[in-house]
Amino acid sequence: MKNLTAKLLLLIILMWTTSCTNKSTVTPYEPTPYEIEIPFGFPTKLNIPENNPMTIEGVELGRYLFYDGRFSGRTHPDSLMSCATCHRQERSFEAGVDHPGFPGGFPHGITGIPTPHAMLPMINLVWNTTGYGWNGLLYPTNPNPDARNIEDFVRMAALAPHEVNGDTTRIKNLFQTIPGYPELFEKAFGSKLITFTNIGKAIAQFARTLISANSKFDQYMHGEVQLSQSELNGYMLFTTEDGGDCFHCHGGFGNPLFTTHLFYNNGKDTVFNDIRDRFAITGDPMDHGAYKAATLRNIEVTGPYMHDGRFATIEEVIDFYSTGVLSSPSISPLMHHVNNGGVRLTPQEKADLLSFIHTLRDDEFMTNPKFGKPEKFPDE
Ligand code: HEC
Ligand code: HEC
Repeated sequence: MKNLTAKLLLLIILMWTTSCTNKSTVTPYEPTPYEIEIPFGFPTKLNIPENNPMTIEGVELGRYLFYDGRFSGRTHPDSLMSCATCHRQERSFEAGVDHPGFPGGFPHGITGIPTPHAMLPMINLVWNTTGYGWNGLLYPTNPNPDARNIEDFVRMAALAPHEVNGDTTRIKNLFQTIPGYPELFEKAFGSKLITFTNIGKAIAQFARTLISANSKFDQYMHGEVQLSQSELNGYMLFTTEDGGDCFHCHGGFGNPLFTTHLFYNNGKDTVFNDIRDRFAITGDPMDHGAYKAATLRNIEVTGPYMHDGRFATIEEVIDFYSTGVLSSPSISPLMHHVNNGGVRLTPQEKADLLSFIHTLRDDEFMTNPKFGKPEKFPDE
């Protein structure tokens, strides 16, 4: 009897200890929160969906996925394509006119089909609450839950024939077989089982870290450097109505993002055929020919310009605002000088405005290794 009690006791102790050791071998899912540091003077309202909080592990994984050509769902060298194929860090995460694969900077997808619009940069996206894309098709209150945020851009990029032309099941299955990735997904999302939703979440987290706030103009605002006389004159022109009159739509005056993230018809055309303008989203006739007033940060390196890439250089853009503005029923009322065909700048004023625009280039952003291609992929 005594013997039996002793055996039972031993069994209980054994069960208890094994259950303890079992518990301690399961790594708890505890990702580390990633704090976005809000640069001086930047808005404090951030667009981070509640179901995708920023974590260090998520951002790390997102960076791998952003750069990994196997995002195409394929492994053949000729069919690799990732976000970074088009969104290049050295061009403020646009293609740039010097992209080796896309002459003139107008990209095309894996199938050779060109994208319907020119590119947008991936920069300071976390402050955009009004809509991503030239016409703002992805916005937080969209009744369509699959069209609300950067997470959804990832799915769209994966599927679009003019981008990756992929298949979300094939893509997630491929990453499932690449050594190292399942473990990274576990750290970031608590499961080794890869889902396309988590692929989108990770890439979106990385995208939200792409913050540019150290241009010459920022340094000037912090009192660290002086602007030249020409740059200061250009800033004056940018922010005055009887000068260049740019600030209503592109910020710059108490708005360090250099975009309002809003949509305007800035007077380039009189006839509107594009089925992907702002009208396509709102159905409001006043939105014919309206597009996002894209940020002017790093604009120097992100040509060609406008949603259709019609201008190759910033000089051409300034000439347009100076004398090329056309009236139409839906032109933005903020194009105050349309009756004169534009703001009519002198050659000196154009040169000053251009030198000011050059102060918005942020080289640190475009070379920061944290945003660059990882040295090695998880399986290397
Ligand atoms: C084939 C080239 C190409 C690839 C690959 C690509 N993009 Fe883009 N991206 C574009 C173009 C073109 C636009 C402008 C789209 C529009 O609004 O018409 C864009 C726009 C965006 C925007 C909107 C930016 C803004 O300010 O509104 C985001 C975000 C974005 N892409 C993220 C991604 C992500 C993430 C990936 C990878 C999953 C990706 N893109 C892959 C070409 C590409
Ligand atoms: C009424 C609002 C408005 C005003 C005023 C305005 N812009 Fe724009 N800007 C826009 C819109 C909208 C776009 C995008 C239009 C498109 O793609 O068709 C744009 C595009 C641009 C682009 C190209 C962006 C890119 O990524 O391709 C540059 C550069 C630019 N504007 C500079 C200026 C300058 C300089 C001024 C002042 C001389 C100015 N803008 C005044 C609304 C405005």
